[in-house]
Amino acid sequence: MIHDVEEILISKKEIQAKVKSLGEAISRDYKGQDLLVVGILKGASVFMADLIQAIDLPLEIDFMAVSSYGMGTQSTGEVRIIKDIDKTIVGRNLLIVEDIVDTGLTLSYLNQVLKSRGAKDVKICTLLTKPDRRQRHVDLDYCGFEIEDKFIVGYGIDYAEKYRNLPFIGYLKAEIYENTQES
Ligand code: IMP
Ligand code: MG
Repeated sequence: MIHDVEEILISKKEIQAKVKSLGEAISRDYKGQDLLVVGILKGASVFMADLIQAIDLPLEIDFMAVSSYGMGTQSTGEVRIIKDIDKTIVGRNLLIVEDIVDTGLTLSYLNQVLKSRGAKDVKICTLLTKPDRRQRHVDLDYCGFEIEDKFIVGYGIDYAEKYRNLPFIGYLKAEIYENTQES
């Protein structure tokens, strides 16, 4: 699998340091307050697992699954809830955990939906952002790394459902994408 990687963009060490500082900031900001951390499946699962361990507060977790991308590298612009939060969110402080904010379509939609359901507060923590690709504005309350408009994989983030288990974030070799598109 490592042979499919062209270049490592963010190392495991850099990710760990960033997760630690995000966790510290969240711990400071939510001290003494209710906190429900909502991970967006599947991409945020690896980040979510590390992040919650870096938050030194009593908290609850839940997950949502939405579809934004198909199997390829282009956004369809369609946002669909596939798995919803299990509990009521009325009056609660939600922290949405996302792997990467790209067009912003997913999070602007979720933000709206969760607020309309009566959440007291909805904030966003994303590991990565690609600001050049934004179509909808989203306030990123906590953000790990700003990256350029180039397709990345690893640390939970996939290409055609693969490469989520890479312990770093990197670029795949061009031939990997070409081969998938042909088949
Ligand atoms: P958007 O902000 O609604 O366009 O969608 C964000 C979602 O698109 C992320 O949660 C990822 O699942 C996916 N995505 C965006 N950029 C990349 C990338 O470079 N590699 C893999 N998935 C990506
Ligand atoms: Mg994804």
